[in-house]
Amino acid sequence: MPLIHLLPHPDLCPEGRVLDVKRGASLCESLLIANVAIEHACEMVAACSTCHVYVREGGASLAEPDDEEGDQLDHAWGLEAQSRLACCVKLRDTDITVEFPKHTRNHAREH
Ligand code: FES
Repeated sequence: MPLIHLLPHPDLCPEGRVLDVKRGASLCESLLIANVAIEHACEMVAACSTCHVYVREGGASLAEPDDEEGDQLDHAWGLEAQSRLACCVKLRDTDITVEFPKHTRNHAREH
């Protein structure tokens, strides 16, 4: 079973965490099951980009983003080469390291 190493984020996991997850599961679902409250405004159908994350290590082991994910990523805050939508990432056997962006596109949640 792959591990997800979460880098510290002040709201989502202040100390960072390591999650043991099921191969084939989506990254977004795995985070929610582990009570990491990642935003997922479109209910994980690749239509909002609020589940944007950076895959800092292990990203080469994942399937490439498809056109739908690529189109939504264009709307993500702080887009980088390592950006992915957590609802589109299916975990394989390789461990990955994930960093959460400082902001999301979900204006409804902004203070
Ligand atoms: S939850 Fe909307 S794009 Fe992932």
